[in-house]
Amino acid sequence: MKRKVTKAIFPVAGLGTRFLPATKSVPKEIMTLVDRPLVQYAIDEARAAGIKEFIFVTAKGKSALEDYFDTAPELESSLKKSGKTDLLETLRSTYMDSGAIAYIRQHKALGLGHAVWCARRFIGNEPFAVMLPDDVIAAEKPCLQQMVEAYEETGGSMVAAMEVPRDKVSYYGVLDVKEDHGKHVSVSGMVEKPKAEDAPSNLAVIGRYILSPKVMSNLGKIKQGANGEVQLTDAIAAEIEQGRDVFGYRFDGTRFDCGSKAGFLQATVSFGLSRDDLRDELADYLDQLYAHRRAAQ
Ligand code: G1P
Repeated sequence: MKRKVTKAIFPVAGLGTRFLPATKSVPKEIMTLVDRPLVQYAIDEARAAGIKEFIFVTAKGKSALEDYFDTAPELESSLKKSGKTDLLETLRSTYMDSGAIAYIRQHKALGLGHAVWCARRFIGNEPFAVMLPDDVIAAEKPCLQQMVEAYEETGGSMVAAMEVPRDKVSYYGVLDVKEDHGKHVSVSGMVEKPKAEDAPSNLAVIGRYILSPKVMSNLGKIKQGANGEVQLTDAIAAEIEQGRDVFGYRFDGTRFDCGSKAGFLQATVSFGLSRDDLRDELADYLDQLYAHRRAAQ
């Protein structure tokens, strides 16, 4: 019998150096896409997929993240007094149930695999999700929910996957495809950040995973991999060697790489244009901007 996926790990210990100087005092995951921090998008997606326990792997300097999920009684009573009920709703949507959220610190930056392994005591012997908040996915049905539904059919372990240009494969974990079933593929191997010429395909891993608890035990045993770090990809690849099923899932939706400045800006424009309260003003501005650009060419 397949167990339900109710726990998710959010690795948020990274230094976010690509966003310096902002990340000197603001954790990257608190940076806002329109008016919500990146991490809120990940939490909402997890909730939609049925996740009940949220485990954050943090690091020194990330306490703003913990504060973000606290209640805000003063703010609440001031909004109540001034009758701002919609803002009150927005505020309450960020609250987490007591005991539903846990934080564990990664004391050394030893890689994504190590960060996930730090949460092992919260996982026990259950399948679990991993979500990387840098990967923001706009989709009609949230990506993790699509995956949970697919996983109920396949079991095993599953990673979100997307075709990327060949010259970009070295930024990703890349799948060696055994059988291609369209939406999902079965996987015969996975390699982290291969050179373009060595990559088994251009089907890349995107930051959503549903993993068997065995992956957690593999993480405790594997050696350092690409970039001298403990790689989650390697622990999943070990699953395949041990004879267990691993699948890639081609999700429906648009993925933004909010770990990069260009990706963050693209997400900001796209999410802005999808909002009723911002669409017209933003679209007008973009039209003007293009008109100026064309005139100047
Ligand atoms: C991580 C994973 C990689 C995956 C990527 C997706 O890499 O290690 O396998 O393809 O996320 O965003 P990072 O972006 O942390 O270097």
